[in-house]
Order: sequence, then C-alpha cells, then structure tokens
Amino acid sequence: MERKGFVEKKIASLLSEEPFFSQVFYYDILPSTNDFAKEMASSGASEGTIVLAGSQTAGKGRMGRSFFSPEGDGLYLSIILKPDTGFDPGLITACAAVAVRQAVEELMNLSVSIKWVNDLYIGNKKLCGILAEGHFSKDGLPDYIILGIGLNLKTPTGGYPEDLASIVTALSDVMPEEDIPDVSLLCVAIVKQFSRLYKKLPDVGFLETYRSASCVLGKRISYVLCGEKKVGTALLIDDSASLVVQNDNGETETLSTGEVSFVRPIM
Ligand code: BTN
Repeated sequence: MERKGFVEKKIASLLSEEPFFSQVFYYDILPSTNDFAKEMASSGASEGTIVLAGSQTAGKGRMGRSFFSPEGDGLYLSIILKPDTGFDPGLITACAAVAVRQAVEELMNLSVSIKWVNDLYIGNKKLCGILAEGHFSKDGLPDYIILGIGLNLKTPTGGYPEDLASIVTALSDVMPEEDIPDVSLLCVAIVKQFSRLYKKLPDVGFLETYRSASCVLGKRISYVLCGEKKVGTALLIDDSASLVVQNDNGETETLSTGEVSFVRPIM
C-alpha cells in the first residue's frame, strides 16, 4: 500500500476508540500542515481532524520564523480544534507541550524539559516546537484553533542549516535510529495525551507537570516587553500559563506570550 494509505489507515485504526479523533490526512509534501488544516477547518472540518506531512516546503514557526521540515526527518502534525468556550489559546499551547512530553516519555522513556512557552528541549537544544494559530469570530470566541507540532526525529543527512546546527537536536542524537517510533505511533500517542488534557480544560491541573518540567523557572532570562529588551529572573508560571518575571529593577512583570532566552552568568 502506498505510504499515504498506510499511515492514514494505521492512525485511524489506532485512534478508533478515541472520541476526540475525527479523521486523518497524510501527504508526502505540503507547504505547511497548519495552513492546510486552516483551510479544512474553515470549510467545515471537525475538531479532532489530523493533518500530517512527510515534509513541508514552507513550515511555519512562531514569531514569523520558518520551521525546517526536511523529508522523513520530523513529525509535522496539525490538529484542528473547535473549542466551544473561549479559554486562552496560551493554555492550549501549554497543554500540547505537556502532551508531547508525556508521549515522548511513554514511548521512549526520555525526559524532556519545557522551555516557556512552547518548546521542548533535550539538554540545551530544541527538540520540538509548537505553533497554535487561532481564527476568532467577532465575539472573541475561536472559530477554530490549529495546533501545529514539529518534532525532530533524525538529523538530516546533510546536517542542519548553519543557523540551526548549534541550537536544535533530534531523537536520533539520544537514541538509536531504529528504536525511534514511526510517525503514526508518535502521532497517536500525542493525540491521546493531548485529548486527555484538553477535554478537562479549563481545569489546568496539567500545569503542575508543565511547571515541574520547566527549564526556565528560577533562571536568569532576557525577554522583550512592549518593545523593550529586559533581563530578569523567571519566578513562576501562573494559572493561565503566563510567565511571571522579576526584572532587574525589582519589578514583577507578567509575560503572556513572546519568547525568552537564557542569560549566561558573567564569570
Ligand atoms: C516553533 O518552533 O516556533 C513552532 C514550530 C511549529 C512547527 C509545526 S510543524 C507542523 C505545523 N505546520 C507548520 O507550518 N508549523 C507547525
């Protein structure tokens, strides 16, 4: 059977008992699974629809960046969500980070940390990025949210591009390639873990795991707030998954979105 049919059939059969799951679409190549899922969602596809690609030609990351998506070297997954209440999309991202972490732990017994708000790390390198994109109606409620997950499975044969080489990692860096679960099994484990947490929202019990897996709490970080670059210490993650920071002037600031970088202590 060609790959498309094989992957779709395997995932649909493994998720047949999962009420959250709707349908699955696999393509060898897409510009971006998030963009494709967006089109499907706006044409009426239901919550729990899954889109996967073997590679992406225009994979998207947060803050307008691209997500390097070479063929066969990563899991490129988007899930359509149509929540009927208006909880913060930031919570969806945090929920997904915990779900991916638990799926990786369950399948491979690997421990990964979470870098606020949406990255999974092994050591000091990024393994996985999450991009949630919402489309909201005039009343502020989401028409749909596309949850995109990009997980590096193998280091590409020619290596990563120069700008990524020192900051990203793949499962193949920490385990034998032949032991890496296939894309279908990874997708199923992530969807199962995610739906378990998502259906409990707005219960944010999963944030306990998020906090304990955080590699940011207690660390010196730099961040941008209202266009100003600042340095401070990450104090806590509140119940809306915002990061509370004490800046170097002693003020407490709350970041609901954005990105932080670690600041190395001056020796
Ligand atoms: C980030 O690291 O900033 C987020 C990366 C998200 C990448 C995934 S891959 C599947 C989905 N489709 C996209 O175009 N982006 C997300």
